[in-house]
Amino acid sequence: MVNELESLYQEACTALAEVKDSQALEAWEAHYIGRKGVVTLALRSVGNLPKEERAAFGKRANEIRDALEQTYTEHAELIRSHELARQMEEGAIDVTLPGVRTPSGSIHPATRTLREIGEIWREMGFQIFRTREVEDDETNFEMLNIPQHHPARDMWDTFHTLTPGVILRTHTSPGQIHAMRRYAPKPIRVILPGMCFRYEQISARKEIQFNQVEGLAIGTNIRLSDLKGTITAFAQRMFGADRRVRFRGSYFPFTEPSMEVDVECILCDGRGCSVCSGSGWLEIAGCGMVHPTVLRNGGYDPSLHSGFAFGMGPERITMLKYGITDIRYFWSNDTRFLAQF
Ligand code: DAH
Repeated sequence: MVNELESLYQEACTALAEVKDSQALEAWEAHYIGRKGVVTLALRSVGNLPKEERAAFGKRANEIRDALEQTYTEHAELIRSHELARQMEEGAIDVTLPGVRTPSGSIHPATRTLREIGEIWREMGFQIFRTREVEDDETNFEMLNIPQHHPARDMWDTFHTLTPGVILRTHTSPGQIHAMRRYAPKPIRVILPGMCFRYEQISARKEIQFNQVEGLAIGTNIRLSDLKGTITAFAQRMFGADRRVRFRGSYFPFTEPSMEVDVECILCDGRGCSVCSGSGWLEIAGCGMVHPTVLRNGGYDPSLHSGFAFGMGPERITMLKYGITDIRYFWSNDTRFLAQF
């Protein structure tokens, strides 16, 4: 039996040396070492041998199989490079043709801005705090000083679920309540990034889903000047060191006083253009000092603690930065839009 195997081995080696192209190589493989090849079958015949011969046969058989596979691989490589060289000589391969580019993905523009925003706040000592997208009415509104029939609810048209009182969050502000209840009475410095949902008529300016980045700082002796300084530092890192920043008085139920933040238009440097509607200013955030009622709802004593909060929209900031005129591009999955970033 072993002798038979040896002569089969010799035969296979001689035959392989004769193989000159990939077609013949394929035939050789099928004949000798393929699934039904003669060597393969000979190896399997070990079961028919008397017990005392099996061990020696099996050992030699495995050696032969490994040796054949090794020679086969080397020979195949040789043939492949010969054939390639021949094709190039014959001009079948034009080495001057440009290669085929493998398409690759890129970071979504909203994600890119989110990361940029997150990085700046991180450097200023703010940690990321994530909270849920499905909220209860109480946390999304009541705890933020927006009771049932408060007219300010008109600012946040809401998606309701079939469960009464369970809604999709209309802003990241309810995250303030979660963060405060988690940490009270300790100081807090967090940002809360995430998706929000509003029951809106979709248009070039309004989407039913969008990201927000909320910020919250709670401690002792935190004052309006801290808010203004911090927001100004952020805006100048985000939009340029010389960029002017202004604060306009505004109204939000959960802050008192409340303000809106404008930066000098980043496209026209404040001279006035179509993006800033000729005003020279772009609105980038809402902010204010946390309302005493909200502090209390979060578990802080307003006579001991104070804090500021802000909320900004990364898609809006991305639109301003890149001059994108239609918010619907963000979630329409048009790769021609996405590939530009
Ligand atoms: N939640 C507000 C909105 O969705 C944005 C906002 C304004 C957040 C002022 C704040 C804030 O934390 O202080 O329109």
